[in-house]
Amino acid sequence: MAYDAHFRVWRGDTDGGALQDYTVTVNEGEVVLDIIHRLQATQAPDLAVRWNCKAGKCGSCSAEVNGRPRLLCMTRMSTFTPDEIVTVTPMRTFPIMRDLVTDVSFNYRKAREIPSFTPPDDLKPGEYRMQQVDVERSQEFRKCIECFLCQNTCHVVRDHEENKEAFAGPRYLMRVAELEMHPLDVADRRDLAQDELGMGLCNITKCCTEVCPEHIKITDNALIPLKERVADKKYDPIVWLGNKLFRR
Ligand code: SF4
Ligand code: F3S
Ligand code: FES
Repeated sequence: MAYDAHFRVWRGDTDGGALQDYTVTVNEGEVVLDIIHRLQATQAPDLAVRWNCKAGKCGSCSAEVNGRPRLLCMTRMSTFTPDEIVTVTPMRTFPIMRDLVTDVSFNYRKAREIPSFTPPDDLKPGEYRMQQVDVERSQEFRKCIECFLCQNTCHVVRDHEENKEAFAGPRYLMRVAELEMHPLDVADRRDLAQDELGMGLCNITKCCTEVCPEHIKITDNALIPLKERVADKKYDPIVWLGNKLFRR
C-alpha cells in the first residue's frame, strides 16, 4: 500500500550543504533509489545522484542510508517502518561533488598503482591451464562491482584523510591478493602491498566485509591470506639472511 515517507537528503556542493526534508510517496516494492527518482521528478529536479543499472551490478549508486553504506538501488523501502525518517547522505570518505555524488577518483588512482597480471614470458595466450580450485578462488574476488562501499567504510581512511596517500583500501589490497594467489602470475607484489599500499594499516576490523553488497569475504579470504604471504616473506629466516648478505 502506498504511504507518504519522510526523507532527509543531503543537498549541497563543494562549498558546503545541509540536510533537506521532503515528504514523498512510496509504493509497494520500491527501493530507496525509486524514491530519489520520484523526488527528482516531482520536487527537486536538480538533485544529483549517480546510478546506472538499478540492479545492483554497476556499483554507481553507493551512498549512506541512515548512516549505513548501501547501494540505493538494493535498499528496499520495506526495511524501514512508514513513520521512520530515512536519511540519505553521500559517501563520507570521498570529496563531495554535488548532493549524493562524490568524487571517487581516489580509487582509480590506487588501481593504477598495482602491476597487472604477469604470466611467464614463455607462456602464450591459449596455453594457460589452471586447476579448478584456483579458478574458483579468484572467482569470488571477480564478483566485485567496484561500488567502493568497502573503501568508504574502512576506518583507516574514513576518519583519517591523511592516510589516503599511504593506503590503497580493501578493494585494492584484495586485487593484490587475487594476483598473488594466481598460479600463472610471476610478479611479486608483496613488498608493494606492505610498503606502498599500506597493508600494515589494516587491523582486520572486517567492516569492509560487512558492507560488501556482493558478500565477498574480503578480510578472511583476501586480506588475511595476503598478510600471511607478506609475513612469510618478511620473516622467513632464509629470505632474511639472503637480504642481509646480498642487499647492501
Ligand atoms: Fe564493493 Fe565489495 Fe567490491 Fe568493495 S569488494 S568495491 S564493497 S563489491
Ligand atoms: Fe579496513 Fe577491512 Fe582492514 S575495514 S582495517 S581493510 S579488514
Ligand atoms: Fe547500479 Fe545501483 S544503480 S548498482
